[in-house]
Amino acid sequence: MSSLSIPAEFTLHRTNKFEHSSPLRWILSHVRPYWLIMIMLIVGAIGNAVLAVVVPVLTGDAFNAMLKPTPDTSVLLPLAITIGISQIIRGVLQFGRNFGAELMAQKMERDIRDELYLSLLGKSMTFHNLQPVGDTMARSTNDVREVNYMFSPGVNLVVGSFMFILMPIFFAPRYHISLIATPLVFTVIYFIALARYLKQLSPITDDVRESFGKMNTHLSESLDGVEIMKGAAQEDAEVNRFGINANEVRNAFVQQGDLEAKYIAMLLLGMAYATGLVHALFLFRAGLIDVGAVIAYFGMLQLLGFPTFTSTWAYSQISLGFSSARRILELINSETKLDQNASGRTSEMRGEIEFRRVSFSYPNGESVLKDISFKVKPGQTVAIVGQTGAGKTSLAKLINRTYDISSGQVLVDGVDVREWNLASLREQISIIEQDIFLFSRSLSDNIAFGKPGATKDEIMSASIAAQAHDFILDFDQTYATTVGERGVMLSGGQRQRIALARAFLTDPRVLVLDDSTSAIDSATEDKIQRAISNAARGRTTFIITHRLSQIRWADLIIVLRKGQIVAIGAHDELMKTSEAYSRIFRE
Ligand code: UTP
Ligand code: MG
Repeated sequence: MSSLSIPAEFTLHRTNKFEHSSPLRWILSHVRPYWLIMIMLIVGAIGNAVLAVVVPVLTGDAFNAMLKPTPDTSVLLPLAITIGISQIIRGVLQFGRNFGAELMAQKMERDIRDELYLSLLGKSMTFHNLQPVGDTMARSTNDVREVNYMFSPGVNLVVGSFMFILMPIFFAPRYHISLIATPLVFTVIYFIALARYLKQLSPITDDVRESFGKMNTHLSESLDGVEIMKGAAQEDAEVNRFGINANEVRNAFVQQGDLEAKYIAMLLLGMAYATGLVHALFLFRAGLIDVGAVIAYFGMLQLLGFPTFTSTWAYSQISLGFSSARRILELINSETKLDQNASGRTSEMRGEIEFRRVSFSYPNGESVLKDISFKVKPGQTVAIVGQTGAGKTSLAKLINRTYDISSGQVLVDGVDVREWNLASLREQISIIEQDIFLFSRSLSDNIAFGKPGATKDEIMSASIAAQAHDFILDFDQTYATTVGERGVMLSGGQRQRIALARAFLTDPRVLVLDDSTSAIDSATEDKIQRAISNAARGRTTFIITHRLSQIRWADLIIVLRKGQIVAIGAHDELMKTSEAYSRIFRE
């Protein structure tokens, strides 16, 4: 695996070019493509600040002209026109700066979404099982948005106002060198205070983002489980629990507001005005500067107001953006365990499956499968039977590396599954899960999920083979019927046949059918039965089932109990030799 690619599972061939070593580097790597906009932003900010200085300077000049023993009014019009033109140019620059910042922030947000989605789809099932969906949603929607705000208005205002701070330092010495003192001292204290402020702010904004993620997790879980919650009349308890989470979010925000309110910069600004004015008046009394200089200087000091006002919340925005960046990066960088082994075997499968002394446990659980060994020839049908919780589903998921085994070996065509290219392995092994998931799309899209280019004819013949065609025709919109939230709900047996149709389309070499539905009416039962035997033809098939008729005809039957094989063989043989097996048929 190349070290550049994200540790991706599955068939993602795209990689991205962003740095993942620290939040700052990550953000900078997202800024890099837009360096031109960034330069524009800085140029706009400098131009804006310099042109802002024009106003007090020219106002000072105007006062001087008026206060002469013989007032010279002829300079007033040119001064006014210069001020007017300079402020129009300033407006254009400001527009450019704001537009550039907004454009960049939106583009970055889009890039980050892309990167995150790519990364999430590339993660292993182990990751997805452990990571709460609500939290992932919060990170990939609101946190991404915060990074956008961090640049517009955040960085935009910080860069813009930073230039304003520098202006009095540059231009005050024009009147008298000592006048640099107030703006200089202000700037030094301003930055010391800012550094302290940011240090205090950082844990609080972390809290703000984290509590929000927690609230979202709770929200998504209770909506997911709303049926159970209502069934158990637990609404009140859930509302209370939600209230606690919502309070946490509020408290975090209040704390942020509290800190913002205590920020010392406003006080500092007042002090700067006072000392600057006193200083200028002293110089005036001593005859070192004229009235115009006092006015211009005081006007310049007022430029410090902009950075002071914006600093309270512009820096909060940056701090929030950083906290969010940290959370997004945490998600991107989290361990994914499986690697896709892109250089692994990709040849066509024959369909021979062998387990050699396989043991398996879930990441934070006890051992689920112990010492499992068996061998299946290409094209055979295997039935896996056993009580609930015996490990049937778990066993099936090891074949296509949904999970990696803890010890032993799983071989496909005599080659360890870890030696196979993961994409190739999964394309040729198809698992129909116990809980069949259908997307909120049309039935034909759902059937063609594994083969997006499939023609209508292909979809239809797959549905016919899967015994799904008839019930699909019963819907008003037949194959165009939308499934799920905004469309029809399908029964378990119907879902199963849609999933089988999927399998007919992709034509895998190995098919695993995890079928927990045992009691269905006999007509449907018959249809499913026929669909399954159609599907089993010409490929290695694993059927996890309670249907005796299917078990009986399997080439190999594996009886699991508490994660171990207690009997294995063909039906006739097992009926004679295995008490555990014959008991299934007697019950
Ligand atoms: P299985 O899900 O493999 O059992 O779980 P099964 O034989 O298919 O059961 P039914 O017939 O569908 O009900 C085997 C064990 O693995 C644990 C379960 O708690 C169970 O004891 N398990 C399962 C986990 O720890 N984590 C999982 O994600 C799934
Ligand atoms: Mg199961």
